[in-house]
Amino acid sequence: MTRRTTALSAAVALAAALALTGCSSEDGSSGGSSAGKPELEVSGAFMPQPVMDMAGGFLTITNSGDTADKLTSVTSALSDDVQIHETKNQKMRQVKSFDIPANGELRLERGGNHIMFMGLKQKPRQGEKVAVELHFEKSAPIKVELPVEAPNHNPKQH
Ligand code: CU
Repeated sequence: MTRRTTALSAAVALAAALALTGCSSEDGSSGGSSAGKPELEVSGAFMPQPVMDMAGGFLTITNSGDTADKLTSVTSALSDDVQIHETKNQKMRQVKSFDIPANGELRLERGGNHIMFMGLKQKPRQGEKVAVELHFEKSAPIKVELPVEAPNHNPKQH
């Protein structure tokens, strides 16, 4: 009988742990198991409607964990060649990874770092969504849908 009770409470504890994981990652107080890991959250993602056979992708990755991570690659069914670019002196350059600092953020925005979809297999239109998967050095991949916005869309211009 004691054993049965133990198994039951273990199952309850597990369910509670899973519920916590699925919830917001903002409070770092969910036990010692999350210590030392990046806690990533993606926001503000979009793709301006492409005018050529390439497209940009923009988003912010917030890391509320106390360990840094890196965005190492992006994949999508839209393109077999998705790159990550930085912009220096108004010139784009492909990079191997972007740093996501501990308790910080990585911003991909117009005029700066961005995702670049080369050789589009089709041209997504405003109102559609493009599914991508973000790959990291440490964290598990994150799937995001980028809403396609007007070609000149820029959330910084309010
Ligand atoms: Cu680029």
